[in-house]
Amino acid sequence: MIESLEWILRRRSIRTYTDAPVSDGQVQALLRAAMAAPSGNDVRPWAFVVVRDAQRRKALAETHQWSHMCANAQVVLAVIGDPLASDYWMEDCSAAVENLLLAATALDLGSVWVAVYPREKREAHVRSVLNIPANLRVLCLVPIGHPGESKPPRTRYEESKVHDEIFTIRTKSG
Ligand SMILES: Cc1cc2nc3c(=O)[nH]c(=O)nc-3n(C[C@H](O)[C@H](O)[C@H](O)COP(=O)(O)O)c2cc1C
Repeated sequence: MIESLEWILRRRSIRTYTDAPVSDGQVQALLRAAMAAPSGNDVRPWAFVVVRDAQRRKALAETHQWSHMCANAQVVLAVIGDPLASDYWMEDCSAAVENLLLAATALDLGSVWVAVYPREKREAHVRSVLNIPANLRVLCLVPIGHPGESKPPRTRYEESKVHDEIFTIRTKSG
């Protein structure tokens, strides 16, 4: 493994957090990383809601059965896209989220992508909690805190997913 790429493999979904505070400076650094993402036609059709309030985080934790970590994170970032600004909104916002997750790893913070889009019921819930206008979409929530669990770095490289020059149809048996 190329050493300088190691930290990318350190990014894991961290779902438990300690009570240690996450500073405004750290949140700002994460948002700067998010907004450094590539964007189709450089439109940058994203917005981020920074949620620290405990009651609001608790409400976000109820978005669906795999969003409970929002309640125990120090801060939750909601990633919002504007489909009227760009039909690449989902790609752009996803690139921003990956930057965010990698930046959190670099700062020794734990984070996880909590899906909202494309489930309309989840989106309606987040919309009502955070006052998101109907013309905007909620891609996901990202709870962030100091890790309360540790996971090993890993790649899940699969040779079978790589094709040489042209796509080769492969059967399961090889
Ligand atoms: C589009 C997307 C949606 C996800 N939604 C959730 C989610 O709602 N709740 C959750 O706990 N993890 C969610 N995850 C995290 C995945 O479960 C996780 O990335 C996967 O299990 C691989 O583990 P790793 O991130 O530690 O490598 C999501 C990841 C992606 C990319």
